[in-house]
Amino acid sequence: MSDSGWHSANGKVILFGEHAVVYGVKAIAGGVADAVTVRAQCSSGNSSVSIPAWDLAFSIDGTSEDLLQRSFAHLITALDLKGASFHLDVKATVPPASGLGASAALAVASTRALAACYNIDMNDGQINAVAFASEQIAHSTPSGIDNTLATYGGLLSYCRREREDARFSSLAHAPAIPLVVGFTGRKGYTAETVARVRAARALEPVKYAQLFAEIARIVDAAEEAIAVGDFARLAVLMDENQRALKEIGVSCDEIEQVVHLAKQAGAFGAKLTGSGDGGAVIIYAADRAEAVHERLNKHGFKTMDVLLGAA
Ligand code: PMV
Repeated sequence: MSDSGWHSANGKVILFGEHAVVYGVKAIAGGVADAVTVRAQCSSGNSSVSIPAWDLAFSIDGTSEDLLQRSFAHLITALDLKGASFHLDVKATVPPASGLGASAALAVASTRALAACYNIDMNDGQINAVAFASEQIAHSTPSGIDNTLATYGGLLSYCRREREDARFSSLAHAPAIPLVVGFTGRKGYTAETVARVRAARALEPVKYAQLFAEIARIVDAAEEAIAVGDFARLAVLMDENQRALKEIGVSCDEIEQVVHLAKQAGAFGAKLTGSGDGGAVIIYAADRAEAVHERLNKHGFKTMDVLLGAA
């Protein structure tokens, strides 16, 4: 039986600029190393996937409307593996549907494992393209940041413009950023929050233009702070970005509570990451990280440590 060995891919955290990035403001994001790791083995019968960390196990039958199934069906077609039979074992350190790029990491790690199992020669550019198409199935109009960071990792700034592909620039030589991630336990829906912001902006264009300009200023300042490893400044900018996101209308009680508890435990800066209205909060706590974990866990919020941009 042929076995691919274990192949991994990065998750992602948007550090600054979410929502504003939809309107042309630059955003900054980083990879979370080894978020998803996959081993492929040739088998007989239906191809199957098991992801114990997400309580998931399923066969890929090619006809299901389930988004994850359709993404895998796409991978099979893209890798020309129709008719092949395999089993994928998946380990995941990030939860699904929490804004940490789990689905793109799954697509990239699965593609790497399948390519190794079936001796298909693929470079990172090709793997990234397959994962982007798979993300289009799962998220309809993804920016491409999730699959890009899943494939390459690191810290990036990126710009989206309507009807154009996003442009990515590596923040080369930037030091990795240690963060605590606090999970609100509430699922955020990206398409819905983006639509809500669009409607609110149409009603109050001046207010939203000012908020996006404020976020653009924060992103520029953050890029400078990252370049010199000034994490104390970064923490202040995280708080400022969170205040702007709250005014935009994408925070929620759970996010505010996680931010508040983290601050009570001594954190220096905290903000939502991704689309908001649930999902995850990122926290810069330096040597106070243990106290932040404890306080959040005591109030029922799950947490994890990430070293952003390390891979
Ligand atoms: O939560 P995520 O990973 O889906 O991030 C959404 C980021 C937004 O700026 C809100 C939308 C986008 O497409 O950039």
